[in-house]
Amino acid sequence: MPHEPTGNRASVSTLVEGRPTLPKLREAAARCRRCHLWERGTQTVFGEGRARASVLLVGEQPGNEEDLAGRPFVGPAGRVLDEGLDAAGIDRDAAYVTNAVKHFKWEPKGKRRIHQKPNWTEMTACRPWLEAELEVVKPEVVVALGATAAQTLLGRSFRVTKQRGELVESELHPRVVATVHPSSILRAPDRDARRAAMEDFVEDLRVVAKLLG
Ligand code: URA
Repeated sequence: MPHEPTGNRASVSTLVEGRPTLPKLREAAARCRRCHLWERGTQTVFGEGRARASVLLVGEQPGNEEDLAGRPFVGPAGRVLDEGLDAAGIDRDAAYVTNAVKHFKWEPKGKRRIHQKPNWTEMTACRPWLEAELEVVKPEVVVALGATAAQTLLGRSFRVTKQRGELVESELHPRVVATVHPSSILRAPDRDARRAAMEDFVEDLRVVAKLLG
């Protein structure tokens, strides 16, 4: 029985006309008004990578650097992701990397923009873009990085802490592996905790590498 995110699936045909392609989707997503987050972000940060990647990695939402660059996982969390992928033997250049929510949600604190977790309404509003990316890329395996990505793919009751590193089935894809978000490794309290968290992350990614053969 696949994990079911919600019953509310929007058709890809409502996003772009004709056969969906990544350039068409990216262009349409740049004008997305499916929720209010477009007002806050600098731009839509659409996924990027191989059009027929064997692995598709899903993060939460762009961070400050990604929002400015317009590219996913190019900031500190991206560097942790690269380190983990490298240790697990997965080539990021051969992957497709995206986010569950494609605008940066933030609140001002002095001069800084502080990350805010997207809520369920925002996650649900953005999900058709992820569905479309999955439909076009047709990856062999999907990796959910953290709770937001995991719940978008696997439903609100899915717990990364309980089922990380397991192969599970989603209504959106038959082969999903969830693991922690790379930024949680950055938040580890000290070096030993960080090393242990990184080892666990790499172990989960090795499950993915094995599935990819
Ligand atoms: N965190 C994410 O979830 N995605 C990014 O692109 C960057 C940081």
